[in-house]
Amino acid sequence: MRVLTTRRFLQTAAVLVAGMLLGACGKKDAPPSESTAPAAATTATTAPPAEPARVLVVGTDAAYAPFESQNQSGEIVGFDIDIVRAIADKAGLQVKFVNTPWEGIFTTLDQGDRDLLVSAITITDERRQSMDFSDPYFNAQQLIAVKADSKISKFADLKKLKVGVQTGTTGDEAVSKLQGKTSTSIRRFESTPLALQELEAGGVDAVVADNGVVENYVANNAAAKFKSVADPAAFASEQYGIAVKKGNTELLEKINKALAEIRADGSYDRIYATYFGTPQAATPAASAASR
Ligand code: ARG
Repeated sequence: MRVLTTRRFLQTAAVLVAGMLLGACGKKDAPPSESTAPAAATTATTAPPAEPARVLVVGTDAAYAPFESQNQSGEIVGFDIDIVRAIADKAGLQVKFVNTPWEGIFTTLDQGDRDLLVSAITITDERRQSMDFSDPYFNAQQLIAVKADSKISKFADLKKLKVGVQTGTTGDEAVSKLQGKTSTSIRRFESTPLALQELEAGGVDAVVADNGVVENYVANNAAAKFKSVADPAAFASEQYGIAVKKGNTELLEKINKALAEIRADGSYDRIYATYFGTPQAATPAASAASR
């Protein structure tokens, strides 16, 4: 009797424990099963449950300080990064930045490897054929970097000199126009810092690149003994835009809305001040309408 009772007790206990375990599991699993059950019952009328938001992959050629570069711990940082983070916050988007070489960066949109690109990308009519751009978020112009003792005073002086550019940039386009695309005096580099290092080494007479990057390099590399030469009449005004795959209007609209919001609430200006000090004279927003 006693033995039986004990066995009974154990059996009952085991059943209870199993029940509790099942109960616990059931509770854990409850939300999904609850949400799938009614959905399954009304498949015809109910939209499928929303998928969790995907992390958007942002491509950037992170060798372009102060817009995008890698800090000592390898993190991608810069003005463009902060702007896109602020936009993502406003738009409720999740983003991650992936270092992407400039050469081939645009094709990553079509291939679906990147959802958007932020890389101090100048909006040009030619590029607009193959991708869509956000409203402009930054004004820029080409600037010439030379050695401090150089006699070069204007862009036309570079007509017959050796000039370093980053392949496929608007700097490359400007110098290609001046010297002819096939000129052997144009030295094309994978990155702008490589072109500037070649200037320091004496391999080229000048480098033509975006003003913000040239100014930043001249200021932070005193040992290189560079100066910058501006020639506003010789170079077109440029505006940077965030690029998305052609036709991705849904994402583009979210970006543009959030960009307007960060301009309106002062976050754009705060980020701008972090990298460039004084506010930009004519904000691209004002000129956006006239494009
Ligand atoms: N603004 C220039 C262009 O669009 C140069 C951009 C280069 N950007 C970079 N992250 N390397 O052609």
